[in-house]
Amino acid sequence: MSRKIEVIASDDGSSTIFLPNMNETYHSTHGALQESEHVFIKKGLSYLAEKQEEITILEIGFGTGLNALLTQIFANQNQNIKIHYHTLEPFPLDLEVIQQLNYVECLKGSKELKNEFETLHQISWNECHQLNPNFIFTKYHTKLEDFDTLLNEVDLVYFDAFAPSRQADMWTIEQLERVAKAMKSQGILVTYCANGQFKRNLKALDFELEMLDGPPGKREMTRGIKS
Ligand SMILES: C[S@@+](CC[C@H](N)C(=O)[O-])C[C@H]1O[C@@H](n2cnc3c(N)ncnc32)[C@H](O)[C@@H]1O
Repeated sequence: MSRKIEVIASDDGSSTIFLPNMNETYHSTHGALQESEHVFIKKGLSYLAEKQEEITILEIGFGTGLNALLTQIFANQNQNIKIHYHTLEPFPLDLEVIQQLNYVECLKGSKELKNEFETLHQISWNECHQLNPNFIFTKYHTKLEDFDTLLNEVDLVYFDAFAPSRQADMWTIEQLERVAKAMKSQGILVTYCANGQFKRNLKALDFELEMLDGPPGKREMTRGIKS
């Protein structure tokens, strides 16, 4: 059965996806681009890049590829940083949907950037691709519950699942333990979510939590450090 998918505009003008059957969007409707830049790039990648030059990232939910695109741009702009990007997606979006997303236009990107964005979506699954000298990209066509490829390797997790109110089973201790196993000690997890049960689950897995200012429209976000 095919999913019903709508491309809509969020408040900062950037696109996001709305799933009517789930009544859920892929990003904050207050601003998709602003949310990704704030939560994942500023509070995750930029924060870690001040401390180390080689960073392995695991993203839960590739979706539109917005976080991957912003990370690739960061790598292009910071040639001293080497990024290994791993991302999971069981339900890939069709290219015709991807072509309706306006991220490259919002970022005032070139034709080359548009090609880079589409390449992220078109290249093969479950294989490692060196897209730039300092950006190595692998996307896995799988669910988190079936993923055990990485062990003690990840420096930074972009935990970008649908909200706990829509997909509670992504935020359980069992799922978070899978993520924790992939992470190095002192690795960092960032997410837009500040849900109480989620935070208690992270604490039960020995994460230290920092509550940070959220993106527009959201008071708080979470950064967890695996201890
Ligand atoms: C909130 S969206 C965010 C996607 C993406 N980061 C973006 O910026 O577009 C959540 C994503 O998680 C994916 N997803 C759903 N179930 C999943 C599972 N069991 N394991 C991994 N990803 C899942 C969805 O298909 C969707 O692409």
